[in-house]
Amino acid sequence: PQTRRVRCTSSSRPLPRRWAVAGPAGGAPLRMVAAEPVPSDSSSPNPPTPPSTRLISHTPEWAALLAHKRDVIDPSHLRDLLADEPRTMALYAEHDGVSLDYARQRVTIDTMRLLFDLAKAANLPGKMAAMARGDRINSTEDRAVLHMALRAAKGDTLMVDGVNVNADVWGVLDRIRTFTDRVRSGEHRGATGKVIKNVIAVGIGGSYLGPDFVHEALKTDRDASKAAGNRTLRFLSNVDPVDVLRNTRDLDPEETVVVVISKTFTTRETKVNAKTLRDWLRNSMGRAPEVVAQHMVACSTNMEGTSEFGISPENVFPFWDWVGGRFSVCSSVGALPIALQYGFDSFERFLEGARSMDQHWQTASMERNLPILMGLLGVWNMSFLGYSTRALHPYTEALLKFPAHVQQVDMESNGKHVTLDGDLVDYPVGEVDFGEPGTNGQHSFFQLLHMGQTVPCDFIGFMESQNPICEEGEPVSNHDELVANFFAQPDALANGKTAEECRAEGRSEELIPHVTFLGNRPSVSLLLPICNAYSCGQLLALYEHRTAVEGFIWNINSFDQWGVELGKVLAIKVRQQINQTRYHNRPIKESFNVSTARLLDRFL
Ligand code: F6P
Repeated sequence: PQTRRVRCTSSSRPLPRRWAVAGPAGGAPLRMVAAEPVPSDSSSPNPPTPPSTRLISHTPEWAALLAHKRDVIDPSHLRDLLADEPRTMALYAEHDGVSLDYARQRVTIDTMRLLFDLAKAANLPGKMAAMARGDRINSTEDRAVLHMALRAAKGDTLMVDGVNVNADVWGVLDRIRTFTDRVRSGEHRGATGKVIKNVIAVGIGGSYLGPDFVHEALKTDRDASKAAGNRTLRFLSNVDPVDVLRNTRDLDPEETVVVVISKTFTTRETKVNAKTLRDWLRNSMGRAPEVVAQHMVACSTNMEGTSEFGISPENVFPFWDWVGGRFSVCSSVGALPIALQYGFDSFERFLEGARSMDQHWQTASMERNLPILMGLLGVWNMSFLGYSTRALHPYTEALLKFPAHVQQVDMESNGKHVTLDGDLVDYPVGEVDFGEPGTNGQHSFFQLLHMGQTVPCDFIGFMESQNPICEEGEPVSNHDELVANFFAQPDALANGKTAEECRAEGRSEELIPHVTFLGNRPSVSLLLPICNAYSCGQLLALYEHRTAVEGFIWNINSFDQWGVELGKVLAIKVRQQINQTRYHNRPIKESFNVSTARLLDRFL
């Protein structure tokens, strides 16, 4: 038995209280109000500064919205707002086949006018322009935010620090087209001469969620699935060895290419999984250099890291520090796995869809601008109405992974507590996003959406199915059956059902409170022609820009992610301890609190 010494370190310092959440009980929206300033604490050398008058919440435009909410919106019900036809007809916009109906938001035409005023006060147009021209708007990392350049048309000019990044972007895309064509045609073969049929993409977070969303969406697209034939694309993201087993057990390494995707090439999960798959390949084919050369490629900004790992530069498809991880699906990160599976043309259509939405975002007036409208509605719901959660319901199974991707794009971007100036925000920012395809979600959490908390919803529907089926004897096609729900749910949430309506149905008095729906629950409906590579590109850019618009209004940095660092650093300490105790019989050090030390002791 090993001897371990554990010391308890405890602190009686109270936690800093930054906000109080106030709101009447009984389901009324919660309101977040500024509470005590953060106490100066010697353990946090640079605490955020207290709220200042630089905050957007101190502008007359913000105050006008608060007054409007109190006087107009609080006393109104969506049932009545929807019945106002001129208002309801006005709250609609479309672009390139994408329709946005936001009549079921708790807004009037005046609310929208006031939100446009707020956008101007926050210098939204100026910030959008700065982003598009490659200014270093990610100031805490001193980087430009140029994911739109990844889908610009070939030949466009976009100079950053004296370099035309369009030439770089298309240089890599052209290489990807050549490489993926060679693999798909059988010209590039495995080390033992077998044709490559399988791809395992190793990556996590932004180096996984975007490509996985596109892969799932294209799996059942007619053209894309024809192009995929009998190929297999898998994603290994979790460092859990169980994920390795699930992804490799039925694949032949001799027919498999491993794509290691990591912007930094320092992410532990990805490096461990990449090594595990390198061993998997070598265990099957030996240690000859061709094994890694023919079976492992990488997408990264870190050429040193990739070559240290053993991947030669001609097998690395780079991208750049001006592409944030969660915004990287249009770079080699998405291009390589998607083009290997579905052909480069499919990926190009995805880029075209995103480009169409980028151009719309940059040029359309606020009143007609889909990402701006959705962003402003997000700010309205979160910061004024106090709805801190938001749900996304795509009415197609093909968008199964879209909510998870949006979750990272939005929560990693806007989960912040200070403005760009370092001021502590005194208004709520950053929604909790979740979602599930319809109609599955209806049979899972919709009960809460209808009768529990108010959660603003995005409904995404398609006019045509990827797989149209008409069952004989059924009144409508299977797709119509699905879409009937896409239309019904937003109205059920908005209108609810009154006690009188329940009585008219003959409900007993005891049951009335249980079957009454309060309604007044906001949603937007997006309707698109069909789920394919192009519309996925449009949706991707729409949601990326919604997040950016919200961040621009809140004046936070939507493009850094310092919040994920602390846990990573603490994991290093734990990893070292596990190694020391397990393999060198060293006691658990003094630097863990008693709770962690107890569990660690039990684990070891
Ligand atoms: O989770 C933090 C994060 O840095 C994400 O922003 C990023 O998408 C992910 O890790 C993966 O990072 P990398 O691509 O560098 O491996």
